[in-house]
Amino acid sequence: MAVPLRFDGKVVLVTGAGGGLGRAYALLFAERGASVVVNDLGGDIKGEGKCSSAADRVVEEIRAKGGNAVASYDSVEEGEKVVQTALDTYGKIDIVVNNAGILRDRSFARISDLDWDLIQRVHLRGSFKVTRAAWNYMKNQKYGRIIMTTSVSGIYGNFGQANYSAAKLGLLGLANTLAIEGQKYNIQCNTIAPTAGSRLTQTVLPQDLLDILKPEFVAPLVLWLCHESCKENGGLFEVGAGWIGKLRWERTQGVTVRQKNQQMTPEAVRDNWKQICDFDNALKPKSGQDALNELLNKLDTKEGISTNLTSSPVQTSTSSISPVEAIGKKMPLKVYTYNNFQPILYALGVGMTTKDPDHLKFLYEGNEEFCCLPTFGIIPAQGSVTDGFESLPGLNIDFTKMLHGEQYLELYKPLPTSGTLKSEGTIADILDKGSGAVIILDVHTYNGGDLICYNQFSTFVVGAGGFGGKRRSDKVKVIVQPPNRPPDAVISDATSINQAALYRLNGDWNPLHIDPTFASFGGFRKPILHGLCSMGFAARHVLKQFANNDVTKFKAIKVRFAKPVFPGQTIETEMWKEGNRIHLQSKVKENNEFVLTGAYVDLQDTVYKPRANDTGMRAELQSDVVFAEISRRIKDVGREMVKKVNAVFQWDITKDGKTARQWTIDLKNGSGELYQGVARHQADTTFKLSDEDFMEVISGKLNPQKAFFSGKLNIKGNIMHSQKLEMILKDYAKL
Ligand code: NAI
Repeated sequence: MAVPLRFDGKVVLVTGAGGGLGRAYALLFAERGASVVVNDLGGDIKGEGKCSSAADRVVEEIRAKGGNAVASYDSVEEGEKVVQTALDTYGKIDIVVNNAGILRDRSFARISDLDWDLIQRVHLRGSFKVTRAAWNYMKNQKYGRIIMTTSVSGIYGNFGQANYSAAKLGLLGLANTLAIEGQKYNIQCNTIAPTAGSRLTQTVLPQDLLDILKPEFVAPLVLWLCHESCKENGGLFEVGAGWIGKLRWERTQGVTVRQKNQQMTPEAVRDNWKQICDFDNALKPKSGQDALNELLNKLDTKEGISTNLTSSPVQTSTSSISPVEAIGKKMPLKVYTYNNFQPILYALGVGMTTKDPDHLKFLYEGNEEFCCLPTFGIIPAQGSVTDGFESLPGLNIDFTKMLHGEQYLELYKPLPTSGTLKSEGTIADILDKGSGAVIILDVHTYNGGDLICYNQFSTFVVGAGGFGGKRRSDKVKVIVQPPNRPPDAVISDATSINQAALYRLNGDWNPLHIDPTFASFGGFRKPILHGLCSMGFAARHVLKQFANNDVTKFKAIKVRFAKPVFPGQTIETEMWKEGNRIHLQSKVKENNEFVLTGAYVDLQDTVYKPRANDTGMRAELQSDVVFAEISRRIKDVGREMVKKVNAVFQWDITKDGKTARQWTIDLKNGSGELYQGVARHQADTTFKLSDEDFMEVISGKLNPQKAFFSGKLNIKGNIMHSQKLEMILKDYAKL
């Protein structure tokens, strides 16, 4: 048989335990080993008068059965005194069952101030006072179980009980928040709406019903919810006659009735009323955050997807998507003309700063290596989504229900820092996911006749599924989960409070990212960051960590947008290197919620290829070839080398007395790598020598010890590590 639920060593306070439901709880708790404070003011049903006998009788009953109990005669309005009885007698308090209650039923117009106030005072304020008095003890001991008692009258309303219904539903609100606030202290708070025969109900319920509605048929639920092994928190349960059911909120899919750049009108509300109230495919938000997120999903126009409602709103009907008509259709050509200004603005928009010297080439047009961040490739393409979608045949859908789900970008050439680019969008495929449709939009961007980048926008249209289409497509660039090991690198980057205000200047004008009123309408406490801005941050992190900010190394990025970021929050990107693929996921550091998932960046072949006279590249050095070879070897046996060497080496190669190239051979992290630039993780040993001397040493013509003592080779850090370099350089020298 299963282990019985015991409460030995636990101290339970049950308010209003002199009769009815409270008595049943007190008796059962005591029977299961708890020490029980039996609180009851002993007044009448309307809250008038008081006497100690009600509590005393129950205490005697418990003691007669060998249990542990003490009486408390104070009103719950004096919560501190009630809780003090528990502390004075048993030294602690573990469980509070807020149960005391009275009734002062009247039809609404006849409710006096006293009828109203007394009900609020006993039920709502009483539960507040008792719970608050116990709260800090529970917090300190990191344990607490609380029950609030609501009523079906509060949940559904009941004639003649306006005062009582209001107080009872107030208790549910109180419980919902305590469940959230108490969670981290292991304090759980649940609410019950009981139905039982008691002095409160005996005048309104027929006798045969009262007979099956015994308080003893409610008590077991209360005990379970208060047991330490029960993990339920913030739940609401109807219970009576041995039946128990859980309640939750349900919400229609709803409709966005606001029209783009126009006032929201009462007529638009009227015209959409049926849909606003249509519970087909209803949503069931589990928390306020859930509710807000779902609402955002309704409105979510991030990444420029139009919030437009046409003058006669388009019906979301299962027959309104015609894949045959839409797939393969081309959007109007989008022309994007820009100068240095836009790439700089974009770089600032995704958090680049002059604080980092290696960001300057993205922020200053006078820098000799001035270039565009690779993810700037989104910008010329985004116009295909913001305007143009609606003109397509076969897509008879509500565009306000579109969510930007995923993004893929592939670069074929580094993006020019100014010019005119043309983008052509094509509906690549449409998938039927049942609850919605996924529209795959491919956008190819050209510089003159040259294809320079390709974007795939993946948008989910809520409620537009069920048209009999396929569920999968080989056209989709799919997300890939990261390897199952701790990340090889993590970069955290705080977004600024103005991040979204800045990013939107790149052409994504959705007010959700700037207008607090609009954002609150979308269910957010403040405007949210663009998903593509978060993506820009993550791409930067990879570029810095694994490509030394060399844009020519970037090939492609894929992300799924999981949750929004608020400007000012910190984006933390976790990265795993697997060959040329850097898997990544980004989260908001403050709340550990993942915002980009299943994401990756593909780098060009990481083997360094020296190129003559490449734009922005400096003159070739002889040592470049050697490092290219080392890179190749690390690619083959990097993981093995990391195990054996476990060190980071930095090389400063000089030419004409000045440092001309810096290389890092990282044989400590991940599967090892070689990259140009200073060590991102602290170097264990740094070597400095000229390009010519390097080649002499490598070819065996110059003895490294001699080079060191003659001052040709400068070594900083752990000189012993240099012994291990032989593995790497063995085909060349004995450095
Ligand atoms: P009950 O009248 O038998 O028990 C309530 C107890 O609370 C009484 O013993 C009373 O003396 C005590 N009490 C009243 N004011 C107090 C105060 N200021 N301080 C301390 N104790 C006080 O009623 P019943 O039915 O057992 O109700 C228990 C709880 O369940 C109440 O909160 C009630 O609103 C709720 N409830 C009961 C339903 C039912 O079907 N019996 C239906 C829905 C809710």
